[in-house]
Amino acid sequence: MSIHFCSIFFFVLTGALGASDYYDAAVVEVQFPFRNITQEDELLNSTIQEYIRLIKSVPTNLDIIVFPESALGEAEPTPVPAPFKQLLCNSTAPEYKDYLKQLSCAAMEKKTTVVINVREVVDCKDPPSDEYCTRHGNKLDSVLHNTDVVFDHNGHVAARYRKWNLFGESSKSITRSPEVVTFKTKANDTFGIFTCFDIMFDVPTLNLTRNMHVKNVIFPNHWFSELPYLTALQAQHMWAQENDVVLLTAGANTPHTGSGGTGMFVGHKGALDQIMLPSLSGSKLLLHKVPRMNASAYTTFNNIASDEDIDALAAEMDNFTLQRDPVLDEQNSVQLNTKKSTVTEEICHGKSVKTCCRFKVNFTVNSTALPPGKKAYTYHMGVFNGEVSPWTRKAGIESCAIMACLTDDPMSCGKRFPKYSDIVWPITFNSIEVLGNFTNVEDKIQYPNSLLASLRSISPMKTSWTKEVQDDVVLRTHSLVQPQSRILTFGIYGRDFSRDGPPPSYSAASLNTIVSVLVIVILISAVELFQIY
Ligand SMILES: *[C@@H]1O[C@H](CO)[C@@H](O)[C@H](O)[C@H]1NC(C)=O
Ligand SMILES: *[C@@H]1O[C@H](CO)[C@@H](O)[C@H](O)[C@H]1NC(C)=O
Ligand SMILES: *[C@@H]1O[C@H](CO)[C@@H](O)[C@H](O)[C@H]1NC(C)=O
Ligand SMILES: *[C@@H]1O[C@H](CO)[C@@H](O)[C@H](O)[C@H]1NC(C)=O
Ligand SMILES: *[C@@H]1O[C@H](CO)[C@@H](O)[C@H](O)[C@H]1NC(C)=O
Ligand SMILES: *[C@@H]1O[C@H](CO)[C@@H](O)[C@H](O)[C@H]1NC(C)=O
Ligand SMILES: *[C@@H]1O[C@H](CO)[C@@H](O)[C@H](O)[C@H]1NC(C)=O
Ligand SMILES: *[C@@H]1O[C@H](CO)[C@@H](O)[C@H](O)[C@H]1NC(C)=O
Ligand SMILES: *[C@@H]1O[C@H](CO)[C@@H](O)[C@H](O)[C@H]1NC(C)=O
Ligand SMILES: *[C@@H]1O[C@H](CO)[C@@H](O)[C@H](O)[C@H]1NC(C)=O
Repeated sequence: MSIHFCSIFFFVLTGALGASDYYDAAVVEVQFPFRNITQEDELLNSTIQEYIRLIKSVPTNLDIIVFPESALGEAEPTPVPAPFKQLLCNSTAPEYKDYLKQLSCAAMEKKTTVVINVREVVDCKDPPSDEYCTRHGNKLDSVLHNTDVVFDHNGHVAARYRKWNLFGESSKSITRSPEVVTFKTKANDTFGIFTCFDIMFDVPTLNLTRNMHVKNVIFPNHWFSELPYLTALQAQHMWAQENDVVLLTAGANTPHTGSGGTGMFVGHKGALDQIMLPSLSGSKLLLHKVPRMNASAYTTFNNIASDEDIDALAAEMDNFTLQRDPVLDEQNSVQLNTKKSTVTEEICHGKSVKTCCRFKVNFTVNSTALPPGKKAYTYHMGVFNGEVSPWTRKAGIESCAIMACLTDDPMSCGKRFPKYSDIVWPITFNSIEVLGNFTNVEDKIQYPNSLLASLRSISPMKTSWTKEVQDDVVLRTHSLVQPQSRILTFGIYGRDFSRDGPPPSYSAASLNTIVSVLVIVILISAVELFQIY
């Protein structure tokens, strides 16, 4: 009787709220344009035509579509008007580049919010007060920013976000103070926005989540995936899960530099959809109804991405280049003893205040000898507390995980066997519990980190992630609660922002110089390619 009542009630409720339970969003993975200089204009034009085609192709009442960072490559930089200053579509103002005007028209015609990333030029003749227009005491003609531009459904520039945490982008500048940017879509949903390497830092990301309580975040990126903690979808997944926000991501794709990673991550519930194109194949658009966090659709959301075929996805990823985290050479680690079936191990690392992690691992080993030519990963449990410097900035890291390695040598951790078809998985983890202790302060964060051979994270439906505060210590536990093989990483990735270096404060060379030595800029950008996160 009461069940009957509940189900009718539920039906009526969802029927009534259905329309506002979801918004319609699209995210696009775009091949990064390696361009011949002579083809530049033509290639830019074809990329913009492709953007416009994709915007028009979406059949529904679209609320928002997101394109990646840097996917317009070295397109000529453009000024970007301040929000709501003027309509760019068909504007006769000569300073704004045509591609900006065309996308303004596309947003207006489709009545949807369009997010793109451009190289923005700011003229230093009459600079805004927030701008650095000098370098080494010399006055500059202009500076460049790595800028996300948001067109609203009327085609107006509704927001403009200048990337704060640049990564090796020495031709770009930052503003004097960070911008914390939000905007609204036509259905009145509020979105925050930041770009690529920003996701590793507290500003402006946590200003959006912790101070402004934004529940939807846009993330254009051109990421360089790194084992074992920071492949693209893994980093996006953990950020959305810990901050419990919807994260809509769009990645510029180049498999041979390990770039790509596009998806929709629904807070602590996990991925709604995710892709990382394994070969150069143009662009790919994901379109979904995204549950609103204030709606019952969020409570009832089950992430479909948890049913992905790991082997099929992993088999395509052999040629996807992955970086290796250099801190693996400094961590304390213990190899998993596979002669046992359960292992409990406590490992600590760090100079002043140590991070200690207790691993409890229960596994079943298929003791059949490896067939000839087949390979299997060994596992090591590693803990690190320190600073990483190979990033363009010093950054505090507190991490621990059980991770796949090629051999008994911990220096082989964070590497993959070259051919997926050669790999067998004799170890099935029945359960894993990784418990870490961290000081309980504002400028730290810990993320639940996991990675499968498919370069996707394990669905939160198969894990648990808890927090227990004991005065000045916070205990975080990440557990695998369903049997799983094909694991590359399972643990906790923590950041200590108090040990971070300051953001780079260099500014650009003048635009005149850039135009006159275009070739050098192209060369620099090729170098940058290996440095930008
Ligand atoms: C650049 O031009 C050359 C000669 O026309 C062509 O062979 C090559 O494929 C082009 N490269 C790209 C990335 O378009
Ligand atoms: C850009 O591409 C469109 C469609 O392919 C074409 O009609 C237009 O002439 C091109 N414009 C330029 C400047 O090449
Ligand atoms: C912009 O110009 C195009 C081509 O002339 C025209 O079709 C379109 O209606 C114009 N849009 C606006 C908003 O004026
Ligand atoms: C939009 O949301 C704000 C709160 O974020 C609210 O104050 C406002 O009334 C809403 N507007 C509409 C048209 O629903
Ligand atoms: C959730 O937020 C959306 C967008 O701001 C709003 O239209 C809707 O009414 C809200 N729903 C509930 C149940 O508060
Ligand atoms: C962002 O957060 C940081 C750290 O909490 C704080 O120092 C800064 O003032 C905030 N910035 C803005 C613009 O809110
Ligand atoms: C990787 O590249 C090699 C050499 O080009 C090719 O033979 C192989 O089929 C590729 N592997 C996959 C999984 O695409
Ligand atoms: C390990 O996992 C297996 C399978 O879930 C279970 O039967 C066994 O009791 C576990 N062993 C320990 C020591 O927890
Ligand atoms: C154990 O491994 C062998 C060789 O890789 C494989 O043929 C067999 O199917 C595996 N058995 C189980 C139960 O997974
Ligand atoms: C973690 O626990 C170890 C062992 O009890 C202790 O030495 C260390 O100080 C703790 N670290 C933190 C951050 O509390």
